[in-house]
Parts: sequence; structure tokens; C-alpha cells
Amino acid sequence: MTQTRLLLVDDENHFRSPLKKRLQKRGFMVFEAGDGNECQALMQQEAVDVVVLDVKMPGMSGIEVLAWIREQFQKTEVILLTGHACAADGVEGIKNGAFDYLTKPVEFDHLVQKINQALEKRQREEEKKQEADFKARMEQQMVATERLASLGTLSTGIAHEIDNPLAIIRECTEFMRLLLGKTEDAVFPRKKDFENAVGKIETAIERARRITHQLLGFVRQPETVFSETDLKALISETIEFVKKEAQNKKVEIVQDLDKAGGKIWSDAYAIRQVLINLITNALAAVTSGDIITVSVRETDLLAEIRVEDTGSGIPKENLEKIFEPFFTTKPPGKGTGLGLYVTAGIMERLGGKIDVTSRVGQGTVFTISLPRTRKACSLMGDNKDICLDILNTIKGDQPND
Ligand SMILES: Nc1ncnc2c1ncn2[C@@H]1O[C@H](COP(=O)(O)OP(=O)(O)OP(=O)(O)O)[C@@H](O)[C@H]1O
Ligand SMILES: [Mg+2]
Repeated sequence: MTQTRLLLVDDENHFRSPLKKRLQKRGFMVFEAGDGNECQALMQQEAVDVVVLDVKMPGMSGIEVLAWIREQFQKTEVILLTGHACAADGVEGIKNGAFDYLTKPVEFDHLVQKINQALEKRQREEEKKQEADFKARMEQQMVATERLASLGTLSTGIAHEIDNPLAIIRECTEFMRLLLGKTEDAVFPRKKDFENAVGKIETAIERARRITHQLLGFVRQPETVFSETDLKALISETIEFVKKEAQNKKVEIVQDLDKAGGKIWSDAYAIRQVLINLITNALAAVTSGDIITVSVRETDLLAEIRVEDTGSGIPKENLEKIFEPFFTTKPPGKGTGLGLYVTAGIMERLGGKIDVTSRVGQGTVFTISLPRTRKACSLMGDNKDICLDILNTIKGDQPND
């Protein structure tokens, strides 16, 4: 337990010093001040739990010092010491926020008892505050989760509605292109302007389609199809997809797959989509000379894939937002902000989880954990986090059991 820190403020040295010694013997850490100014100077430097404050002092009165303490140090409790005939001062003090008052001459044990009571009150208030903070945080989190869930449902619904008209616009634009290309129509007024306008429509359609497809691919995805999947082959194959882009950027993609064991029981299509999203993100965050490493670690029941890059990193304030739909730091028109939202949804479906750590200027690590065996998949219930922890420690299971 930490030592309680007391401050005795009294102008009478012959009263203060012996009291200090006796309080120290009871285990308190005791500071002293001879008047209000000394009290203020000391409290600016030292943290104090309880102030035992004489009311009648030259210079600032105890009541003035009390007002200052209340204003500056809300958590510090104050016990006032009043003259025998001045109980009214004590009552005035309590009105102004003192914990209690004692009349001089002070009975020592009574003072210690009051100090302990003041400390208990302080602790109760601290606990109440912690409880209130916790409740407020939980409420905030629940609101955020609900908002996210309804935002997700809403946006996939909208994507669905937009997809059909979008297909018609696309077909009509293709038809316009066709007409523009026909020789008999080669010369007509402002043909160039017309072509430019069609080009802009095509770019916009492309962007809108990327958004709807990310969302609908996620929602319309047929039932997750679990089968025996060769993780090593799947990763190598996926890296092939993005190799060209890496070469263009002069970025090396390292495959560290030695620790990958045999097969895992999962959905290859879904894992591929997750990996493409993660590697594409890494590619967007790196510059020439950087490295992206994809590695696998497997326990008997769990497979853990890490996608690690030496790129720009993610600022702390963005880390909690990156899984939200439509959060992107890419310039307008470049990113949908759906990649990680969809990825997190897929991981949920696969009974796994995704974690991220990042340092600005040093790089980012995304880690996905997946149940590796049929048994591990069936173990996953509502308490996924607990299951994942347990799975990490269970031994002796085989992929095909
Ligand atoms: N490896 C990474 N390094 C740095 N920032 C990252 C990394 N991965 C994700 N981010 C940050 O998270 C944001 C959200 O990523 P997400 O994949 O959801 O959308 P996006 O990449 O912006 O858009 P899209 O996936 O459609 O291209 C990114 O804009 C980026 O700021
Ligand atoms: Mg992305």
C-alpha cells in the first residue's frame, strides 16, 4: 500500500512539530507549512492526500486556503482545525468543501480517525468515478458497434440497389463508345468533348462498381465452403497476383513459409481475398526498397498468417478506425475504404480473427489467426477469443481429424 501523504498547515510551530512526529509514527508521510503561502508552494510541488488546516493564521486565513485547494486540487480532502470558541468557522468550512473540522486542542486519536475517514471517502469517490468512466466507455463502445453494424447493413443494401442501374449505365456507355468508334459517325460537332465526357462517365462507373462489388462480394458470398486447403500453395499463388505491382514499385515480397505445415481446413477463396486486401494495402504503404513479408506459423490447431511491411505505418488515432466501412486515407477516387471492413467480416465468418500493430515510419503487421482443423472450426462458438487462446495451447490434433 502506498503511504498516505499529509500536509499540516499551522502557524504555531510548537503545535505542528510534535504532531508531525506522532503522525509519522502512525505511518503517515507528513509535510509542514507555516502559513497559506507555504501551503500553496508545497502543494504545487508535492501530491497531498489530506490537508490538516488551521483556520486562524496570519496572512491568508484557513478558509481562503481551503477555497484555493478546492479550486486547484479537487481530490485532496481538507480537515479544518478551529479555535475552541470558533465552531462557526468549521461549519463555514464544511459548507465550502472541507471534509470536517476539529476544535483545538485536538485529541490525537480523534484526528487520526478523521484522517482515515477522509481517506475512505476519497477512495469511495475514486471507485465511483472509475465505475462511471467504465460505464461511459462501455456505452460509447456499444453505440459505436451498433452504429458500425447498421452502417454496414445500410451500405450493403444501398450497394445492392445501385448495382442494377449501374449495370444499365455501363451498357449504355459501352454503346456510346461503339457509336463513337463507327466511321460514318466519325465527324460530328464537338466529337472530342463528347468522347471526354464518356471517358469521365466510364471512370466514375468503374469506381462505383469497385465499391458495390467489394460490399456485395462480401454479402453475396455463397455459404463459406470449407475444404482441405494447402496454405503454402495458396499464399504463393496469391502473391503471384500482386507480384507485377510490387515489381513496378521496386518492392520485394518475401515468402517465409517454412513454418507452414500441411493442410488447413478452411475456405481458400475467402483466405485469398483477405490476403489480397492485406498485401494490396501494404503495397500502397511502401515505397521503393521496402519489403513486404508474408509468413506463416502453425500450432496444432491454429494457423497464423502475418503480412508485414516496412512502409509508412498507421498513426495511432487511425488504428481504431481502419476496420470501419469507408475509412480511407487514400486520395479521393483511389480507395473505397472497404478492404479491411470486408476482411474483418470474412475473418469473422471463418471463425478467426485479425489483429494489427503499427509504428509510424517503421511499418505495419497484420496478423490473421485461423482455426486449422475441422475440430478447431467446430469448437469456435460465441466465445471466439477464448477459443482461440485455448486452441493455441491444445496439442496433439491432426488436420483431418
Ligand atoms: N499496411 C498498411 N500500412 C499503412 N496503412 C494501412 C495499411 N493497411 C491499411 N492501412 C490504412 O487503412 C485504411 C483503410 O484500408 P482499407 O483497405 O479498408 O481501405 P483502402 O485501402 O483505403 O481502400 P481500398 O481497399 O478500396 O483500396 C487505408 O486507407 C490506410 O490508411
Ligand atoms: Mg485496401
